Amino acid sequence: MKRKINVWDYAGTIIEHMGKGILLTAKADGRPNTMTIGWGTLGIEWGKPICIVYVRQSRYTKELLDKNGEFTVNVPMGAIDKNILAVCGTKSGRDMDKFAELGLTEEAPEVISVPGIKELPLTLECKVIYKQDQDPAAIAKENDDRYYAKGTPNEGDYHTAYYGQILAAYIVE
Ligand SMILES: Cc1cc2nc3c(=O)[nH]c(=O)nc-3n(C[C@H](O)[C@H](O)[C@H](O)COP(=O)(O)O)c2cc1C
Repeated sequence: MKRKINVWDYAGTIIEHMGKGILLTAKADGRPNTMTIGWGTLGIEWGKPICIVYVRQSRYTKELLDKNGEFTVNVPMGAIDKNILAVCGTKSGRDMDKFAELGLTEEAPEVISVPGIKELPLTLECKVIYKQDQDPAAIAKENDDRYYAKGTPNEGDYHTAYYGQILAAYIVE
């Protein structure tokens, strides 16, 4: 069962969990994949409720988002098996089926084509209505040095911002 929520009533909960890690799920060619995210923004643009997620070029999730511009954001309510966030934050869906290996349970979506995850029951169903690659020249030097430093694996691996219009928000019960 899905209990509808007003997303703004849960904005604090979502952002607080984001600090520790939540999941971003995408799906294309019939296969879902999920990854841990720690960055995101909730707000309003074009008069619509928006969740923005920031995804590096190298992520398999980016390929899926670019193919099928829809995603769910999956937030734990209460305790979560930390292994889920650790594996989803270090392993790529290119190399493994995270749903199968972690025993994650797909929750059929209401509006879009990407499932939620029962184990992380607070769900936002989002449709990408805008995306923007970061402009390296516009990033403060301090952040460029820290997150995209030359000579590290992150060099040149900039983020793309995906603006998802929130079409449904609920808690899976
Ligand atoms: C706590 C935490 C937060 C993370 N936040 C982000 C994020 O906001 N954006 C991003 O691109 N990667 C982030 N990552 C890294 C991805 O989750 C990781 O590279 C993942 O393996 C990508 O999976 P994929 O290749 O299946 O898409 C985070 C990892 C951790 C552990």
